[in-house]
Amino acid sequence: MGRKISIPLKFLGVFTLTMLLITGAFITALSSMRIHTARHEAGAIAEQVIAFRTWVAQTEMVWVCKLVPGYHDFLMQEHTVDGKTFYGKNPAVATRELSMIANKEATHAIFRITSDDYRHDDNAPDEFELSAIQAFKRDKLLKSFEQYQNGTYRYARPLLVQQECLKCHGDPQDAPLAVRNKYDSTRAFGYTIGQVRGIISVSLPAIGIQEIVQSLINPWAIFCIISTILINLFFIHSVMVRLVRLTRSAEAIAAGKLDTELVYTNPSESNDELDHLYHATNLLKRSLIILFKRLEK
Ligand code: HEC
Repeated sequence: MGRKISIPLKFLGVFTLTMLLITGAFITALSSMRIHTARHEAGAIAEQVIAFRTWVAQTEMVWVCKLVPGYHDFLMQEHTVDGKTFYGKNPAVATRELSMIANKEATHAIFRITSDDYRHDDNAPDEFELSAIQAFKRDKLLKSFEQYQNGTYRYARPLLVQQECLKCHGDPQDAPLAVRNKYDSTRAFGYTIGQVRGIISVSLPAIGIQEIVQSLINPWAIFCIISTILINLFFIHSVMVRLVRLTRSAEAIAAGKLDTELVYTNPSESNDELDHLYHATNLLKRSLIILFKRLEK
């Protein structure tokens, strides 16, 4: 068996292990915070889209007096007596166009509404969106579905069929003529209340490891880490200095130098174990002095 290792080395081992465990706890906390933040942000975007859709749905349709290039879709049109034409955009069309405008400008988040049984080809789901729809169909209580995909955070919320949706997504016979004329009558009909009609899908750039590391390397964090290391080094150094001094003194006493001075705080005023050890050594020294005096006599 080799020699036992020194206290400073043991301390270094314990210190390193402690730092590693704290770093581990920190990284887990950060990664759950990363997911939490992304979920929060995507959820807020989804809520805004739902609010916009609800506003359009409450008024049944928004009517515009002009069709701009790229946004020329509408469900119905009405001509006024003075020869003007108004175009009606139902909630789904209005939301699709909102997402087109928002996503064109977007450098950050994009969103859209999609379904596995879609009417408009632009609403066709991708692989993630399909698995989200399937997950919502399997589990009616599932509130959201998420996934990280090559640096992108993807999030989805279900759109469930309510009474007012049945007018255009229930029996094709009940649907407004405009809907029947515009879309294939087999598509997106035949739903019942509570079914998953589709989803709101949001994509955000994921917060990368690089960004997390960058935010960690700030002056305060570095100051705290260096202070921690310095405080620990200072502590173990001061303990070791006193231990080594005591060892030297005890060796000197053993060699017969009974006038060796032991400097310490009296145990009546100190809870420090090293002071107690100094005191015990001092008592030993005094006993030796008495013993030698008796022997001399
Ligand atoms: C006034 C008729 C009407 C009503 C009411 C209606 N929808 Fe739609 N919905 C449509 C039309 C038309 C489309 C196709 C829109 C397009 O061209 O993007 C559509 C599309 C959708 C889509 C996108 C997928 C696709 O088919 O292209 C979803 C999801 C959807 N509706 C959900 C709902 C829900 C949920 C409700 C009830 C809260 C509802 N709709 C009420 C007419 C309606």
